[in-house]
Amino acid sequence: NDIRNDIPIHKKTNLRQRLPQCLIIGVKKAGTGAMVQYLKMHPDVVIADGELNFFDYERNYQQGFEYYKKLMPPSYEGQITMEKTSNYFHNKDTEWRVYNMNSSMKMILLVREPIARTVSDYLQRKLKDKVTKELTPPFEELIIRQKNGRINEGYPGIRPSFYYKHMLRWLKYFPLSQIHIVDGDNLVQNPFEEVHAVEKFLGLPHFITQDRFVFSDQKGFYCMSIDGYNGTRQEQCLSRGKGRKHPDIDEGVMEMLTDLFRPLNQQFYKLIGRKFDW
Ligand code: A3P
Repeated sequence: NDIRNDIPIHKKTNLRQRLPQCLIIGVKKAGTGAMVQYLKMHPDVVIADGELNFFDYERNYQQGFEYYKKLMPPSYEGQITMEKTSNYFHNKDTEWRVYNMNSSMKMILLVREPIARTVSDYLQRKLKDKVTKELTPPFEELIIRQKNGRINEGYPGIRPSFYYKHMLRWLKYFPLSQIHIVDGDNLVQNPFEEVHAVEKFLGLPHFITQDRFVFSDQKGFYCMSIDGYNGTRQEQCLSRGKGRKHPDIDEGVMEMLTDLFRPLNQQFYKLIGRKFDW
C-alpha cells in the first residue's frame, strides 16, 4: 500500500556544497553500490561520486573538512548529502575521525552472510590481480594457512567479515540508534523493503516506491525503473561487476569457515540486538 509522495522536502533554495549528514560505511561486497544507486532515485538525497576514502586514508583526512566538503555535490536546503566508502567500516581510526567531524552523523551499514561476502571480496581482488597480470590462486589456497591447515584470518579478503570486532569499535563512539543496519541478503531479494527502511531512518518522505524495482531475468537481480524523458521510465541495472557468479567452495573449507564465523555472528547479533539467519 504505497502512498506516493512526490513532493520533495527541499524547496530549491540555498544551493551549495555541504558536508555529508549520512555515510554508507560498508561493508564492502554487501550491496553498498546497489544502495547508492537506489537512494539516488530519491529527490531529497545527493550522493558524492565514487568512494572518497576520506576517513580511512590518513593523508586524505589531513586535508581537512573544507577539502572534503569541496568533493560533495551541491545540495538544496533540506536535501541530505551522503558519501559512501565501503572501506570505512572495517578500517580502524575511521570511527573517531567521523565522530570528530560530526558526532550526530547517521551511518548506514550493510551486512551480508559473511562467507559469501568473503568469496565476493576474493573475486573482486582476483579481478584487480588480473589487471596487474598476477595469477590469483584458488580461494581455498588463500583462505587456508599452508603451515597448519587452519583458516588464514590474516587474509585481507576475510577481515571485513568480522562484523562483531568492527562494530565494537564504532559503538565506542556512536549509539546504535545512529547506525542503520541493512540486511544485504534481503536487499537482493526485496530491495524495496530495505530502501523503504532507509527512507524512514533518514526521516525522508516516502518516494522510492515498489514499482521502481524491476527484476531482470537476464541480470538475475533487480534493476531500477528510473525517470526518463517525457514521463517515460528506463530500466537501469548495476554494472557487470555487481552480481558475479560465485565458485563452488570446497566442503571442508566451508565447514571450517562456518565454525569460525558461528560464534562471532552470535556475538554480533547480541551487540546489535538483531538476528540474521547466518
Ligand atoms: P556479488 O557480486 O558477490 O553477487 P558492493 O556494491 O558492496 O561491492 O556489493 C556487491 C554485491 O551487491 C554483489 O555481490 C551483489 O550480491 C549485491 N547486489 C545487491 N543488489 C544488487 C543488484 N540489484 N544488482 C547487482 N548486485 C546486487
